[in-house]
Amino acid sequence: MKNAAYPVVFACLGACLWAQEPAKPPLKFAWAPADDPLTATVRSAGEKLIDRIGGSLLIEVERTLATKGLDEAVELMHLKSLAPPRPLEGKPRVTAIKLTSFRVREPRNTPDEADFAALDLVRTALNAGEAPPKVIVQTVDAADTPTEWRVYRPIAVSPKCLLCHGNSDSLQPQVRYMLERLYPEDKATGYSAWEWRGLIRVSYAAPVPPAPAKTN
Ligand code: HEC
Repeated sequence: MKNAAYPVVFACLGACLWAQEPAKPPLKFAWAPADDPLTATVRSAGEKLIDRIGGSLLIEVERTLATKGLDEAVELMHLKSLAPPRPLEGKPRVTAIKLTSFRVREPRNTPDEADFAALDLVRTALNAGEAPPKVIVQTVDAADTPTEWRVYRPIAVSPKCLLCHGNSDSLQPQVRYMLERLYPEDKATGYSAWEWRGLIRVSYAAPVPPAPAKTN
């Protein structure tokens, strides 16, 4: 009797260890329905915030390049002290801000499945010679979490960006040295001016629908 229990224990050990590291369940995501008033609310909040983030990114690049050495500039990029804005009563709450791309320098910026789909939407339009969508709104549902609303906007490379994102053989030695040291997996070089670089993304917690009016 005692011995007969061993296979069960071992079988469970194997299965339980495996069960401890389950593959991440795939994210469920969809493009937000254009005619949903919530989409309009989130989209408008997202556009304003992305405008500010895009502006801050450009200003930071300009100022840093004007005032710091190139090696220090590599360490400072991008928007490291940027925090989500404070939640405002009655407005969608920002839960995350992300820069993402098909070719990332910083591994944390790697697209998840939902980001990838948004990137792919832009790539498909560009490959077809069409104007890419200006703004993309998406809903993402993961197990046990409220719906996340994502707003994305494409970002392009300006000539200044090429100092750190241009062809690797055209990079200044101190930039190349810092990139090799800090980002050994870097894939974010080889861009040319005005090329599409990636997406700025802001995420919102699902706005809570108003409570139904009491009937009695
Ligand atoms: C001084 C060097 C430097 C310059 C100039 C620079 N970048 Fe970057 N960029 C970086 C570094 C370092 C990272 C990785 C760190 C991070 O994402 O915060 C990065 C990451 C990014 C990312 C996130 C995706 C990824 O690759 O990880 C985007 C998007 C981006 N840069 C766009 C731009 C744009 C647009 C400009 C010009 C307006 C620009 N960069 C100018 C150094 C630079």
